[in-house]
Amino acid sequence: MKIRSLVLSICVIIGATSVAQPSMDKFIDTLMSKMTLQEKLGQLNLPVAGVLTGDKKSENIIENIRNGNTGGVFSLRGAAECRKLQEIAVNESRLGIPLLFGFDVIHGFETSFPIPLALASSWDVAMIERMARISADEASSSGINWAYSPMVDICRDARWGRIAEGAGEDPFLGGEIAKAYVRGYQGDDFAAPNTLMACVKHFALYGAAEAGRDYNTAELSRQTMMNIFMPPYKAAVDAGVGSVMAAFNEFEGVPLSANDYLINDVLRRQWGFQGFVASDYNAIGEMIDHGIGDGAETAQRALNAGIDMDMVSDLFVKTLATSLEEGKVTMKQIDVACRRILEAKYKLGLFDDPYRYCDTEREKKSVYTSANRQAAREIASQCMVLLKNDNNLLPLDAKSGKKIALIGPLAATAENLLGTWSFSSKNVKRVSLLDAMKKEFGKRLMYAKGCNVLLDDELEQKISPDGVLDRDGRTPEQMRAEALEIAQKADVIVAAMGETRDMTGEGACRADVSIPEPQKALLRELKALGKPVVLVLFTGRPLVLTWENENLDAILNVWFAGAEGGLPMVDVLVGRVNPSAKLTTTFPYHVGQLPLYYNSKNTGRPWPEFKPYKKYNSCYIDVPNGPVYPFGYGLSYTRYDYGKPSISAPAMKQGGKVTVTVPVTNAGKRDGAEVVQLYIRDVVATSTRPVKELKAFQKVHIAAGQTQNVVFEVNAEMLKYYNHDLEYVIEPGEFQIMVGPNSRDVQTLKLEVL
Ligand code: NOJ
Repeated sequence: MKIRSLVLSICVIIGATSVAQPSMDKFIDTLMSKMTLQEKLGQLNLPVAGVLTGDKKSENIIENIRNGNTGGVFSLRGAAECRKLQEIAVNESRLGIPLLFGFDVIHGFETSFPIPLALASSWDVAMIERMARISADEASSSGINWAYSPMVDICRDARWGRIAEGAGEDPFLGGEIAKAYVRGYQGDDFAAPNTLMACVKHFALYGAAEAGRDYNTAELSRQTMMNIFMPPYKAAVDAGVGSVMAAFNEFEGVPLSANDYLINDVLRRQWGFQGFVASDYNAIGEMIDHGIGDGAETAQRALNAGIDMDMVSDLFVKTLATSLEEGKVTMKQIDVACRRILEAKYKLGLFDDPYRYCDTEREKKSVYTSANRQAAREIASQCMVLLKNDNNLLPLDAKSGKKIALIGPLAATAENLLGTWSFSSKNVKRVSLLDAMKKEFGKRLMYAKGCNVLLDDELEQKISPDGVLDRDGRTPEQMRAEALEIAQKADVIVAAMGETRDMTGEGACRADVSIPEPQKALLRELKALGKPVVLVLFTGRPLVLTWENENLDAILNVWFAGAEGGLPMVDVLVGRVNPSAKLTTTFPYHVGQLPLYYNSKNTGRPWPEFKPYKKYNSCYIDVPNGPVYPFGYGLSYTRYDYGKPSISAPAMKQGGKVTVTVPVTNAGKRDGAEVVQLYIRDVVATSTRPVKELKAFQKVHIAAGQTQNVVFEVNAEMLKYYNHDLEYVIEPGEFQIMVGPNSRDVQTLKLEVL
């Protein structure tokens, strides 16, 4: 009997769906006892699909699957395509070990959802879980069993392009959202055919890139690391995430792919993470440029640091056998890494049924269904943040007869709306804002592009090599004249402006985080016409909107809304949906304030956010300290009045709890949902503490005219922090408890911890 069929019969006998530890251990012991060194190293290797997908980076993948050099395949999709490779692995490799199929399922699969920063702005974790569930259902029917998501990097710097991919700047909210993604992708059991194994990334501190430049060094204290940047990764681990992706950046002089302290000590020993750790794309190879040594050196450093799977560099499979002979790595380390990969496959049920995720019939029924599209539309409408709305200019009255001029280079772009990770959405029917507004307003709508996104043609091409930008060949003067002409005829101007999807995300950092100049110049001219102007803002990051906030009448931040494009935008613009989203990042007043975040320290010379400059205080000569829009901010078409909050007791024991109650009244005429936020401040501590820290929130639906008492529990866990010695402690003394609609407008209570 061939060893492969022996292994397969063992699988059937054991019945791999039951993931009881003893049977898994026994199964893997038996399997590993048959594996050669090279086959074990093969399990640690994740090459791109190479010849199949036209990516030149990998050698012949089919050959490598046959000879056991491959543990999984990077970025192949399609039930039939994945099945083809799985059959080769199962039937033609010596041991028949099935493959992992990993893919960037980030904000949806074929049905794309709003970018993650937008999703976070909903503050609706159940909704985010639902989005991840739908994504997993689609992707898992399309051959994929492993998603490189959630991305939970905290970011305090709007310049960093990848701020679009995370949940923003807050560790607590980021943690709640991380858990929601993991639950959504993995369900209760990631062996179910419609769930996936999640991969939390980028461990760690990737979002702390200095100067907001991608892949740059993270330079910060271990205390800030533990208090601010680590909680979302830890939350994902606590929620049972199956895998972790190490980040590209370095910390304390060691790239994450070789960072023994963060991976072996913090992640595994301190947090008890049991799954496997993959490198990021070619990150082991990139350590050569970091200056760590040649490929053999970087690979052995990575394995020693606890990296189990090498994404794309091929260095594990090519160099670790020699490093073993040279005594630079041990057989035990290779065995441990191999076991972790096999455990993941076992837990996914692949030994039981390697084709579990390759069901072409299910694929036809599951991907881009009308129910999923409907969900994408609903979800997107919950993510749009109303930043300004003077004189209740919005919602636009669909039946009023007023003429609307839709102007701007982003009005007619539909592809653009899919957001940064949209290569998984190939076949969606694209709907631009223009399409959706035409449908709503008919002949009352006039349109002009007005200008290109950027002035520089060549730069636009580089940013968007796929040509998403749809550049207009007319002169700037011709475009401007057309726009002003139709704007003159209109009662309301709707300007569709901001960034394109390719100006955000990986490798898309900006030093000037404002609306690009040609668009801004046009906005100034539109404003000068004296008509009401609504800015429909497309962005993947917090922008500097100082002028816009001072001069325009209404601003609706629609981010990148996903598969249903302009439809959910119009739902909000005309008031079918009352906006309820709130920012999860601070929108700065000036780029020079960056990094800027609400949970900052007081300093020894604190200075109020908007008080004019005074020498020898912690402030700027030329701009205020405060942002244009603070963390947690967002308006709606109704108004919420916050009553006086109360606390159940003025003091609590270290292990105790108190409740805080705040009455919130919907004082307007529309039903709505309000995100009520609770912050704390540890007034006196052995280490300095932030001026505010979000510790709880509730999104409550309140009917027009109704009041709801929102009740929060404040417990000891919420008051703990990592002190200077990195001990997780609660320190007795005075705390402030603050509640309000955002991080700026809070009411404060006192609490004494005894
Ligand atoms: C690099 C990115 O950093 C990571 O987020 C992504 O999952 C991998 N490439 C794979 O595409």
